[in-house]
Amino acid sequence: MRSVCFTLAAFIAVATASVLPKRDLATVYSKCTVKDTVAITFDDGMFIYEEELLPLLANYSAKATFFLNGNNYACIYDDKSVQSVRNLLDSGHEIGAHTWSHAHMAQLSWDKLHHEMFLIEDALVKVAGVMPALMRPPYGEYNDRALAAIKARNQSAIIWDFDSQDSIGATVAKSKSLYDEAAAKRPDSILTLNHSVLKNTVREVLPHALEVLSKAGYKFVTVSECLGGLQPYQFVQYRGMKDDTWKC
Ligand SMILES: *[C@@H]1O[C@H](CO)[C@@H](O)[C@H](O)[C@H]1NC(C)=O
Ligand SMILES: *[C@@H]1O[C@H](CO)[C@@H](O)[C@H](O)[C@H]1NC(C)=O
Ligand SMILES: *[C@@H]1O[C@H](CO)[C@@H](O)[C@H](O)[C@H]1NC(C)=O
Repeated sequence: MRSVCFTLAAFIAVATASVLPKRDLATVYSKCTVKDTVAITFDDGMFIYEEELLPLLANYSAKATFFLNGNNYACIYDDKSVQSVRNLLDSGHEIGAHTWSHAHMAQLSWDKLHHEMFLIEDALVKVAGVMPALMRPPYGEYNDRALAAIKARNQSAIIWDFDSQDSIGATVAKSKSLYDEAAAKRPDSILTLNHSVLKNTVREVLPHALEVLSKAGYKFVTVSECLGGLQPYQFVQYRGMKDDTWKC
């Protein structure tokens, strides 16, 4: 029995190494390609501050992108979250996926990767009627297995080239000065990392960032626009009605 198992295991190992094709990896974007654009991205919502962002962004005709979790600060199926996600879309902002529970993707098995990604995609289709084509790996962490899973799900990974460092404890003054420096350096484009779940980001840093970057002559666009018109969604359909599968 023992030797049979061993033989089978050895056979599988050889077959896996020699027969399975190399998996395709998802494209990783960390820079915008359209000149004079800033793509502001917010991670980790929904929470309680997203609605406050809408008038602020609108004041600068700014479109932003929100990479959403299903079950992190709040449950995406909460009535308030559902309404806010729909308001974001109806205001012209874009949404992408950020895994169900803010997972460390580089540490997950193939099955767990798919489970984490499926749950948030399912929620976004039910709540918002969109199947995301863009996702952001939490913490910006990924490996080849994660990229293969993202590719298998017909998505691209979006990282960033500017981090206001809010999530690692930068003070408001520090985050603001990072934006001042970015505006002064005036790169062709900026892809920012922001966190809509942090009060200081929403109330203090973002208004400053919008002001200095808009004075520097940038246009605030969604990630798909700053990448030259990628498709943000794999498909768009009707929004669902709450049923007992809408739970975290
Ligand atoms: C709206 O934008 C103008 C600049 O265009 C700025 O002076 C003003 O402070 C902004 N107001 C808010 C509430 O963001
Ligand atoms: C982005 O978020 C950071 C915190 O992550 C914040 O400090 C910064 O002001 C935000 N920038 C913009 C343009 O929203
Ligand atoms: C893959 O996503 C693209 C958008 O990025 C979409 O146009 C296409 O239909 C999707 N393909 C499948 C098989 O879902």
